[in-house]
Amino acid sequence: MRVLTLTGLAMAALFLGTGLGAPPAVVAQDAPNYCVSCHQALTVERLAAPVARYTQDVHAAKGFGCVACHGGDPTVAGFNGMDPAKGFLGKPEGQLLLQVCGRCHSDAGFMRRYNPALRVDQVAEYRSSVHGQRLTLYRDTLVATCTNCHPAHAIRPPSDPQSSVHPLNVARTCSVCHADSTHMAGYQIPTNQLERYEQSVHWAALSERGDQSAPTCNDCHGNHGAAPPGVDWVGNVCGQCHSVMADYFAASPHSAVFTRLGVPGCALCHGNHQVQAASDTLLGVGEGSVCSRCHVEGVGGGIVAAAMRARVDSLRAAYGFADSLLQRAERAGMEVSQARFDLSGAQTALVQAQAAIHAFELDSVAHHADEGLQVAAAAVERGHGALGELRFRRVGLTVSTGLILLLIIGVILKIRQIEA
Ligand code: HEC
Ligand code: HEC
Ligand code: HEC
Ligand code: HEC
Ligand code: HEC
Ligand code: HEC
Ligand code: HEC
Ligand code: HEC
Ligand code: HEC
Repeated sequence: MRVLTLTGLAMAALFLGTGLGAPPAVVAQDAPNYCVSCHQALTVERLAAPVARYTQDVHAAKGFGCVACHGGDPTVAGFNGMDPAKGFLGKPEGQLLLQVCGRCHSDAGFMRRYNPALRVDQVAEYRSSVHGQRLTLYRDTLVATCTNCHPAHAIRPPSDPQSSVHPLNVARTCSVCHADSTHMAGYQIPTNQLERYEQSVHWAALSERGDQSAPTCNDCHGNHGAAPPGVDWVGNVCGQCHSVMADYFAASPHSAVFTRLGVPGCALCHGNHQVQAASDTLLGVGEGSVCSRCHVEGVGGGIVAAAMRARVDSLRAAYGFADSLLQRAERAGMEVSQARFDLSGAQTALVQAQAAIHAFELDSVAHHADEGLQVAAAAVERGHGALGELRFRRVGLTVSTGLILLLIIGVILKIRQIEA
């Protein structure tokens, strides 16, 4: 109880503008540390557990002791080490926690000594996030603070597979709250983000193929809640990675209209959490197309949508035909490896045409589709050529086999004649 009251005093001092001052120094390893020796002997789990847990913490590895975050004097035996007059802060929470972590992490000069590449904007970014705003404005205790995402006494760098903020673990860390309908009951937002995200192409790429370029929660929402640098709205975040589509889209007739309508760009057609693999079905005015949500067949955008789909379909069909022709020739033993290699140009053109859809005008798609069709046509010609040559060789083979057969019969007859 005494500790708690004194903590209150320390906090009051902070809010009066005293601040925490410069980062604390690293404690010499051979100095006595009564915080550790007393706490590890305590029988109350909540008081003893931090000591054992802390041995795995990145701050312990850098030589910091308990006082780095809690203050106090570790060289004093007994409870006096926890005297607020010696800077003891108690259990830092809320605004005090931001000051405790920020004392080092917002101090560029201090952090540079340890890791010059580490950013020093976590507290500032956090303050601009929905979490930070609600903490500051409403003293909302249900939002995430530093130690919800980086559990105190077990903080590890994001690159450590056991870290709560390793790419494979972030979704679960956020979802401790965001998938808990009891925790989120007082808010107007859904609690299905994790469930949906785990069905997305992005999670499949990250978890099944280990593709760390695929996004998890913080890649779209920012590590510390605000959208990533250079992105003024989370709805625009897709272009960080899918820049070709984003560039086409930005110059398209939809860009301005969607902004005016308040429609969320990419996420309108692809979703945000449950992004699925794209397919041609999405394009055109047929069933399952996204265009038909707003356009009708035979009018304006509907005409263009159908025409784009026709181009993509014909290129896909031409590629398929050319490819099967070359495969037939190859199975028959003809040398067509160069032709097959050249045909991959049509596949590339197909991918380019699918990306060019995002310009939402026919010419961009037609340009790539026509290029691909020419490549496919050339491959078909070479396929027919190879199969034609095969027929020619087969006729040649039949004739020569006949001649050899006649020759053998002639020799046999000759031998019989001589023997007789
Ligand atoms: C002689 C034993 C002893 C020493 C030395 C000691 N503590 Fe404690 N500490 C305790 C006990 C007992 C409590 C529980 C007090 C209570 O609940 O009021 C406690 C509570 C705490 C708490 C929790 C406060 C809260 O608000 O729940 C923190 C944090 C803490 N100590 C950190 C430290 C640090 C840092 C040091 C070294 C500067 C230290 N302790 C030194 C015994 C000790
Ligand atoms: C990097 C900062 C940091 C360091 C270093 C640190 N702690 Fe803590 N500790 C915290 C924070 C923050 C809390 C508040 C509770 C929470 O968010 O989990 C806390 C809470 C506690 C509590 C209260 C636990 C509870 O559940 O009520 C105790 C006791 C404690 N720490 C002891 C220690 C001891 C002993 C050490 C050194 C071995 C230490 N801490 C080192 C940040 C730190
Ligand atoms: C005494 C100064 C100090 C305090 C207080 C402090 N940190 Fe640190 N922290 C560091 C240093 C130094 C590193 C090591 C940086 C490095 O070498 O990469 C570090 C590393 C980290 C890392 C790993 C970064 C990485 O990529 O390597 C995280 C996460 C972190 N701290 C979070 C916190 C949180 C959350 C708090 C508050 C509860 C906190 N820190 C309090 C100094 C501090
Ligand atoms: C909503 C969850 C969340 C909160 C709240 C949060 N962090 Fe982080 N933090 C992350 C994630 C996720 C990463 C991993 C980023 C990555 O993969 O590079 C991270 C990374 C870090 C790093 C490593 C360097 C960096 O910027 O990437 C530090 C240091 C850090 N956080 C400190 C803090 C501090 C201090 C606070 C409190 C002001 C805080 N974090 C609050 C989720 C959070
Ligand atoms: C400790 C619980 C907790 C954790 C952990 C947490 N959040 Fe939150 N988050 C909340 C609460 C509570 C809100 C406020 C909801 C509101 O205002 O509608 C919120 C709000 C948000 C919002 C704004 C939603 C809106 O539009 O109002 C986003 C985005 C968000 N969190 C993302 C994340 C991400 C990403 C992570 C992990 C890196 C995370 N959160 C971790 C509790 C948490
Ligand atoms: C591919 C990018 C992306 C990923 C990955 C992602 N989000 Fe989102 N998220 C968005 C977009 C876009 C919105 C809509 C934002 C808007 O309309 O302002 C959104 C909205 C939200 C909201 C507001 C409520 C809602 O559902 O509309 C929360 C909370 C949220 N995301 C949390 C998460 C969490 C937790 C994860 C990880 C499990 C996650 N997000 C992964 C892009 C993403
Ligand atoms: C008006 C609807 C619409 C909008 C808005 C939209 N897309 Fe698409 N997107 C599509 C359609 C339709 C396809 C399928 C093309 C195909 O496979 O024929 C597609 C395909 C894709 C593909 C897969 C391309 C491939 O090579 O198969 C990606 C990636 C993609 N879109 C990203 C984005 C991004 C990023 C944005 C925002 C900048 C965006 N999309 C905006 C409709 C849309
Ligand atoms: C951090 C980078 C990153 C961000 C941000 C991102 N994506 Fe992706 N996206 C990827 C990666 C990596 C893949 C997997 C490509 C693969 O399958 O090989 C992918 C796949 C896709 C696909 C499937 C492509 C296909 O070939 O069918 C679509 C559609 C897509 N993303 C749309 C989006 C949308 C919409 C957003 C924003 C809400 C977004 N992405 C945000 C990296 C990202
Ligand atoms: C959210 C509704 C919405 C969706 C979905 C949508 N569009 Fe549009 N589109 C519009 C609006 C609104 C305009 C502007 C209409 C205007 O200026 O007459 C437009 C304009 C166009 C235009 C310019 C044509 C013209 O008449 O000037 C094209 C082309 C187009 N869309 C193609 C597509 C294609 C292809 C898809 C599907 C991949 C699609 N749109 C999906 C709403 C949508």
